[in-house]
Amino acid sequence: MSRVLIEFRKVRRTFKVGSTNINACNNLSFVINDGEFCLILGPSGSGKTTILNILGGMDSPDDGAVIVNEIDISHFSQKELTNYRRNDIGFVFQFYNLMPNLTALENVELASEVNTNKSLNPSDTLDKVGLKERKNNFPSQLSGGEQQRVAIARAIAKNPDILLCDEPTGALDFESGISVLKLLKDTCKTYHKTLIIVTHNQALKQIADHVITLHNGSVAHQEYIDEPLDIEDIVW
Ligand SMILES: Nc1ncnc2c1ncn2[C@@H]1O[C@H](COP(=O)(O)OP(=O)(O)O)[C@@H](O)[C@H]1O
Ligand SMILES: [Mg+2]
Repeated sequence: MSRVLIEFRKVRRTFKVGSTNINACNNLSFVINDGEFCLILGPSGSGKTTILNILGGMDSPDDGAVIVNEIDISHFSQKELTNYRRNDIGFVFQFYNLMPNLTALENVELASEVNTNKSLNPSDTLDKVGLKERKNNFPSQLSGGEQQRVAIARAIAKNPDILLCDEPTGALDFESGISVLKLLKDTCKTYHKTLIIVTHNQALKQIADHVITLHNGSVAHQEYIDEPLDIEDIVW
């Protein structure tokens, strides 16, 4: 039996733009189990990035609770949030966000230096994501798919429990996108990480264990999938 790792409990996050209030999270509640591959699906503007920012300790809700590992992170101090971001969360972004003046290896080393977990060896982690021969290349010398592999290695090397991915295939061609998704899924199953991918790409909804569909900052639909499709079997 899996245990609950993450719970959003009636979370609200409102942005004021001029005189308009935008409810990016609108009484939002869901749970995610430990070790799960959870896909959060929704169109642009439905609140996906806001959820990841809150769960990643980069933003806080206006109301409600965000429980991670039985602790409510919504009242964390700045210092507690910093430690949480460093130790508990790995982030993978649409546009990779690598440091352009550092090599692949240096990018991974930098991330694993700031945390207090037992980090994985940066060089070994790059081997595992298929970049054994490219460690000394700068990001500009790598393809988009290769840069995303470096970003995944960087997120995994600091050995967090949770991997948050914001449209990780959004900037990639189909083939590279499939291979990055496969790498994310395989890596998280191997290292027993909880994987959360947010996307607007409907084609991905068959590959996860749990799919949460958003509409205007609330859960519109949820599904648990007993036998997810192999990633090679989807197209978009
Ligand atoms: N910092 C912000 N200031 C004002 N509005 C914001 C801010 N962040 C997000 N929003 C608004 O909140 C809604 C949800 O945004 P977001 O979480 O980025 O959605 P998604 O990632 O699904 O596209 C959108 O209407 C967006 O314009
Ligand atoms: Mg977004």
